[in-house]
Amino acid sequence: MRLDKYLSQAGVGTRSEVKKLIKHNRIKVNGTVITDCGYGVIESADTVLFDDKTISYEEFVYYIFHKPGDCVCAKEDRDNKTVFEYFKGVNIRDLFTVGRLDKDTEGLLIVTNDGDLSHRLLSPKKHVDKTYFLKCIEDVSDEDIKALENGVDIGDEKITLPAKASRGDEPNEIYLTIKEGRYHQVKRMLQAVGNEVIYLKRITMGKFELDDLPMGEYRLMNERELEYVAEYKGSNI
Ligand code: URA
Repeated sequence: MRLDKYLSQAGVGTRSEVKKLIKHNRIKVNGTVITDCGYGVIESADTVLFDDKTISYEEFVYYIFHKPGDCVCAKEDRDNKTVFEYFKGVNIRDLFTVGRLDKDTEGLLIVTNDGDLSHRLLSPKKHVDKTYFLKCIEDVSDEDIKALENGVDIGDEKITLPAKASRGDEPNEIYLTIKEGRYHQVKRMLQAVGNEVIYLKRITMGKFELDDLPMGEYRLMNERELEYVAEYKGSNI
């Protein structure tokens, strides 16, 4: 792989930024300064150093992001702030969000360049649980909770799959765990029982949790979470 591509994929900077680093003698391969941006790196054998520190190159990167309710899940948007504007100093070129949250929805979003993981988490056949905390305009009755759990008609061909719902601290708050990811699903489910969502936050996606990550911040997945990634990718469920 070309040296400039290798450095930018390793997250050192954009293609133009890493080209400058190469020209300014700050990159070494196996101890020798390389000034040719097109130098061929053998990923399995070469050691690449930036200011004498080894660069670790990973094919895939996995971030957990705590999305605020002011940005859209798109790479570019003329009118709105995007999720990726929060990723300062990260080479976002190949990154995408695993599914989408509405602009006003907060909470857990996985950002990666791994299409296989994305498929495993989003495929309707995989039934990966997503838990949301929501506040509604009206109090949620026990009948509504039962209806949400059994499945409601949101205007699609099929009613929603069985879900889990439990109460929050206030009578208008619930936690809802769904196995699907239909368009505006949670908001439409509450509409189906005559209510309206006024605040929505995703707490979990599969085994992934926000923990105490502050809103607007991202972190690389930790070792435990990377094991989950391997489990999802290895599973044929
Ligand atoms: N359901 C919704 O209605 N909106 C979201 O952002 C996520 C789930």
